[in-house]
Amino acid sequence: MAASSTKKMIENAQIIPSKGVHRYTIIWIYGLGGNADGYTEVFIKMQPPNTRIILPRATKRWVTILGRQYYLESWWERDDACVEEGTVIMDKLRELIDDEIKLVKNASNIIIGGFSQGGCLSLTTGLTYSKQQLGGIICCGGIFINEKKLLEKISEYSKTIPILTIHGKKDDIFKWNDVEAGLELLKQKGVGDNMEVLAEDDVEHIISPQGFDLISKNTMEKHMTSGIEDAWQPVPASRSARNTINPIRRIVDRMKITPNPAKEMISLSIGDPTHYGNMLPPVEALEAIIEAVQLPTCHGYAPSFGTLEARRAVAKFWSRSDYILKPEDVILTSGCSHALEMCIDCLADPGDNILLPQPGFSLYTTLCQSLGIETRFYDLLPDEDWKVNITHLESLINDRTRAVLINNPSNPCGAVYPEEHLRKLIEICEKHHLPIIADEIYADMVFSNHKFYFMGILSENVPVLSCGGLSKRFICPGWRVGWIVIHDRHNLFKDTIKPGLADLSSRILGPNSVTQAALTHILFETPDSYYEDILNQLQNNAEYVYRSLLEAPGLQPTMPQGAMYMLIRINPSEFRDIADDKDFFMKLICEESISCLPASVFGIDNFFRIVLSTPMEKTEEACQRIIEFCQRHAKSVS
Ligand SMILES: Cc1ncc(COP(=O)(O)O)c(C=O)c1O
Repeated sequence: MAASSTKKMIENAQIIPSKGVHRYTIIWIYGLGGNADGYTEVFIKMQPPNTRIILPRATKRWVTILGRQYYLESWWERDDACVEEGTVIMDKLRELIDDEIKLVKNASNIIIGGFSQGGCLSLTTGLTYSKQQLGGIICCGGIFINEKKLLEKISEYSKTIPILTIHGKKDDIFKWNDVEAGLELLKQKGVGDNMEVLAEDDVEHIISPQGFDLISKNTMEKHMTSGIEDAWQPVPASRSARNTINPIRRIVDRMKITPNPAKEMISLSIGDPTHYGNMLPPVEALEAIIEAVQLPTCHGYAPSFGTLEARRAVAKFWSRSDYILKPEDVILTSGCSHALEMCIDCLADPGDNILLPQPGFSLYTTLCQSLGIETRFYDLLPDEDWKVNITHLESLINDRTRAVLINNPSNPCGAVYPEEHLRKLIEICEKHHLPIIADEIYADMVFSNHKFYFMGILSENVPVLSCGGLSKRFICPGWRVGWIVIHDRHNLFKDTIKPGLADLSSRILGPNSVTQAALTHILFETPDSYYEDILNQLQNNAEYVYRSLLEAPGLQPTMPQGAMYMLIRINPSEFRDIADDKDFFMKLICEESISCLPASVFGIDNFFRIVLSTPMEKTEEACQRIIEFCQRHAKSVS
């Protein structure tokens, strides 16, 4: 900080915010050549609750040490300027103290400390602060700035303020003899009984671990927690909250990545089809919502499991001429994710397990873990259109297995299972008496030559909870209406799971009532041409990406059969410098500004997922950039 600067010290200080209500402040002034970042980690470890720590920053400048010039942070230019420049700094420190007092309401909640030059500043500022008594002074490897004017300014509080001085007897910057003489001088001013001195025999110009211990335990912690019984502590999160982990956030957010500023960002990672505005809800659905919101009857609470009319609409929508569903078979939820949560919660207790696909939608794991339910992953086979490895699935079943979750059409694989495969899965579940949770949010979203089969319609004996919703098929994930369709031909759920789900639905007092009121119109008035158009866009994108990326060295795309995603295999051995999917993901953003998702977030390494709902021109641009990226990184540069 330049001596002439009018900036307040707080403005460029490093601040470690208080954990809990800000009641105390520690101002720590580092010494010549130190820096705020260097101390931050140390102080975060020592930080008492309810305390914010301020590390003012010194100015970087040329300083002379033992005849040599160094460019370092320093509070003054030369030692002989310490009184003149130090006085300006001390004025600013006093101003900082004044401002902190306004925040913590009490001067005795403020400690000022420092090391070396900072120790000199903290001791001298603290002892000459005359407005109120501060909470304490810590001087490490420093000395009172022995100047007549300053000695005269020593305040009446200096006799009572707790002072901790820590000094190495082998300090060759501020010699112990000089420090002793300084302390003697202070004694003459009445400073003594309130001062604790730790003089360490073999210690040089540093703060020893013992010194840090004393600062932390005997000074900061004691001071900042004693006598304040009502001090707020940071409020701990529950086990369930701590166990709620989103693998996407955990893996992706930890990577610090900056896109290439020269290239426009293209996101192929977000499973929200409305993201680019090229896919929108059907006009009929928009009109139905507008009409519903104007009705006087749909602003209040609906029954928590959904209105009769809305449940009737869903039942009718999924009925077949030979298989009729009733409104009682439907529970409305706040999106498909809520439906999944309710099914998992209703079927399993903590310690039970549920079988989940791998790779699979990461929410399944998130939900199970937060409910204390064990996750057991059955493999999907990349070389068999991501079908289930049924032998593997069966090997995972034990006496605590409560259900098998099957996602068809699937995220992230884009697989659509043929009837035969689904029947085999049902067979295994029947053999082991395991209900099925069918995540069918992408029901009917299949490309030409593929057909979607409902688990619940195929299954004669195994009860199926089919989870679905408006989000994807009607391109309105924000409207938050989903459902559970209960397929239970033999009444195995009648007195248990069915009422259980109804009870669980009361936890959130039901899904959005405007969307429920519009549901019949949305389901029955949206023309087939709308779905056809959406599916055409998805399929065109899929085909384009598939054809293009076949040309990219090191990549192996698989043509999806439905849903909105494609998984692409990465062969790291074909690249010079790409270690795995996470590395691919990071470098692709940094160099090409394209975000996809590394498939390790779905439980499988060396694949990446892209979303197929982007506008064609973005898809084309993205493919071009991915191909160039792969060519640049390929072992044999083409
Ligand atoms: C497989 C799968 N299930 C469920 C959901 C969640 O759907 P909703 O937005 O209706 O909660 C998603 C969302 O991407 C999904 O991909």
